Amino acid sequence: MRVLVVGARSKTTEALLRQLRRRGVAWDVRLISHRREEPMQVHGYPIYVIPNYARQPLKNLCFSWEPDVIVNTAALTDVDACERNRELAWQRNVELVATLVGVCRVLGARLLQVSSDYVFDGSKGPYAEHECPRPINYYGKTKLAAENLCQTALLSVLIVRTTHIYGTPAPWCHDILRWAFRKARRRERISVACDVYTNPILVDDLAQALICALQGQHEGIIHVGGDLWESRYDFLRRAFELAGLSIDLLEPVPASELYRNRAPRPRYAGLRYSRAESLWGFAPTPHTEALLRVLQRTYSGDSGDSTE
Ligand SMILES: NC(=O)c1ccc[n+]([C@@H]2O[C@H](COP(=O)([O-])OP(=O)(O)OC[C@H]3O[C@@H](n4cnc5c(N)ncnc54)[C@H](OP(=O)(O)O)[C@@H]3O)[C@@H](O)[C@H]2O)c1
Repeated sequence: MRVLVVGARSKTTEALLRQLRRRGVAWDVRLISHRREEPMQVHGYPIYVIPNYARQPLKNLCFSWEPDVIVNTAALTDVDACERNRELAWQRNVELVATLVGVCRVLGARLLQVSSDYVFDGSKGPYAEHECPRPINYYGKTKLAAENLCQTALLSVLIVRTTHIYGTPAPWCHDILRWAFRKARRRERISVACDVYTNPILVDDLAQALICALQGQHEGIIHVGGDLWESRYDFLRRAFELAGLSIDLLEPVPASELYRNRAPRPRYAGLRYSRAESLWGFAPTPHTEALLRVLQRTYSGDSGDSTE
């Protein structure tokens, strides 16, 4: 199977490729990035650069290579940056998807689009697939617009919605735990929302789900998430306790204060994943085990390869 992955240096792509390598899956995989920077390969898979994912060069590459499936993990995922720079957010999160939809239609290829629990308003999460989206920030609006493009495209499309992703071993990626641990090492105070809830997912579990998605032919929307629904503050507190870091550095702050001049966050977000459980046998790594695995990577300089 020929698999084209757009978003070469995302957390999600790194974990997906790590698992493909570990399992010895012999798919022909190509990676596309929007810019030239290190690393220029991920787990031995070379990165092809299409500056800013420009439409025509991207189409040319797809038509010359003819992938069977395109996996899109690329997005402007910084929620505040999306609010400030709506044009860029729309380009990356919607127009890119429109191009991929067009390519898949011509080639008869499948599209696997990664989306977010931020398509919901956060009034009563965790959410199931049938519930009605109503995004409250621009990032969520772009992710929903992309979903709508996919769903009306008369294509074989699967949208995998995920919750907050953590635990990447990739040094080039952003991660809430790495950010918090770095601040803790400098003895800096860490303001964190005490009333914003989700069920964060270990990036390895998301990658497992994407492999199931690639192996199967399911269409529509499937949710994945972690096994524990909790506030951002409780998530970091638990991680700090396991890491032996002082929880006094964590400052619980209400969302109304923390995000006062920033993009609003869905308060009670998160996703129910019973469809993924029944179709794929999806079972997220138990929360404490997942955090311990991340800690082992963080403190041993482990790339993630040997822990699975
Ligand atoms: N992070 C989360 O907590 C979270 C939660 C829910 C859903 N999601 C969704 O899951 C998918 C994967 O997320 P992720 O966290 O794995 O992604 P990530 O680590 O934030 O990486 C996003 C990728 O998008 C590409 N990109 C294109 N234009 C960019 C720009 N202007 N600035 C930054 N990156 C840009 C980059 O890839 P290249 O360098 O390869 O071009 C980058 O590696 C996305 O669709 C996201 O919306 C993420």
